[in-house]
Order: sequence, then C-alpha cells, then structure tokens
Amino acid sequence: MVKMNIVIIAGSNRKSSTSTRLAGYSERLMGQKGHSVTLFDLYRSPLPFYSPDEYHQEHVELQVLKKSLVQADGIVLVTPEYHGSISGVLKNALDHLGQEHFNNKAVLSVSSSGGAVGVSSLTQLQAIVRNLHGINSPEWLSIGGAQRKWFETEGQDGYEIGQDINDRIHRVIGSFLDLTQLVRRESHAAGSISS
Ligand SMILES: Cc1cc2nc3c(=O)[nH]c(=O)nc-3n(C[C@H](O)[C@H](O)[C@H](O)COP(=O)(O)O)c2cc1C
Repeated sequence: MVKMNIVIIAGSNRKSSTSTRLAGYSERLMGQKGHSVTLFDLYRSPLPFYSPDEYHQEHVELQVLKKSLVQADGIVLVTPEYHGSISGVLKNALDHLGQEHFNNKAVLSVSSSGGAVGVSSLTQLQAIVRNLHGINSPEWLSIGGAQRKWFETEGQDGYEIGQDINDRIHRVIGSFLDLTQLVRRESHAAGSISS
C-alpha cells in the first residue's frame, strides 16, 4: 500500500475523552502501517465560533487544519454522541470547512457513546459528509457503554483492549485505508488524463 496522508479530527471538548483516545489509537495504528497521520484535537486546539461574517484568516490552527485537509487523502471524523447527535465543537469545526476539503475523499466516521453503539451520531455525521461531497467509508467505528472503559486509562503498554473491539478497529481502519487508496488512485489517474 502506498503512503497516504490521513487527517483525524477529534471532536471532543473533554480532557480525558474516550473518543479522543480512540482517535489517538487509530492514529498510531495507521502510522504503524506507514501512513502520515495528523490528529487535530479540538480540546487542545479549540477553534473560534464559526460566523459567515468572519474568515478567521489570523487563526493559525484553523488555517493549518484547512491546509492539512486540502492535502489529505483520507479523513477520520471522531465524535462523542451528544443528545443523539454529534458534539457542538465538531459541528463548529465542520462549519468552517467545505467541499474543497472533502470532495472525493474517503471519510471514516467514529463515535463514543453511553449506549451500546452511537448510531444516531454516526448516521448524522455520514449525512454531513455526504453534504460536503466526501465518500463515506462502508463501515463506521463506535465504542459504547462498557467498551469505553478500555480507553479510560492508558497503561505502560498502551490500552488493554478487548479482542473483539480490537479486531473491529483493525478491520474498519483497514477497509477505510483500502477505500482511501482506491479513491486516491482513481483521482490521480483522472488528473493525469485531464492534464
Ligand atoms: C451532553 C451529553 C449528551 C449525551 N447524549 C448522549 C446520547 O444521546 N446518547 C448516548 O448514548 N450517550 C450520550 N451521552 C454520553 C456520551 O456519549 C458518552 O459519555 C461518551 O462516551 C462521551 O465521549 P467522550 O469520552 O469522548 O467524552 C451524552 C453525554 C453528554 C455529556
């Protein structure tokens, strides 16, 4: 598999967030496969409130995020499930962005929820991706209920993750990377034909 640029946006505003830790785990996993992965943690690097009246050109983190997304081959969006939807900070970040960042890119949706699976937030996230002209990965990733305990503390050897969820994380990340490579190859081929 060729080396690809992957951008992860972790959409929690909580210091010990399990969704952000799952994002970090996914970052390491894709890094071990040889990809260049950039994680934007919206808790550590908060973005300004989106306003259609302001471009926030002076906001360094926002400009870095936008540039990284333009250069990305694939994007991972990670959210805690809040009131059957995505977090406010992730929605705010997405409002700063547009089709120029997502068009024809593979996008993986990931959530952490109190319930067993964050279906509502994931469904809504995929609808937003569709509106941004991204390509939803066929599988999504969710930790919920008791599964979150694995991401509550990190030991010296990393997280002690149950075999079933670990297998799922590997499978879902694998299918996302496969789709990212496929889309990347097709768009590069289309670019070389048209140029
Ligand atoms: C404001 C708020 C709303 C929530 N709404 C839901 C919900 O609708 N469904 C659900 O399953 N869990 C809900 N939860 C629980 C969170 O999804 C759960 O604690 C999740 O693991 C938080 O992710 P984090 O560890 O990344 O902060 C809610 C939590 C908060 C703080």
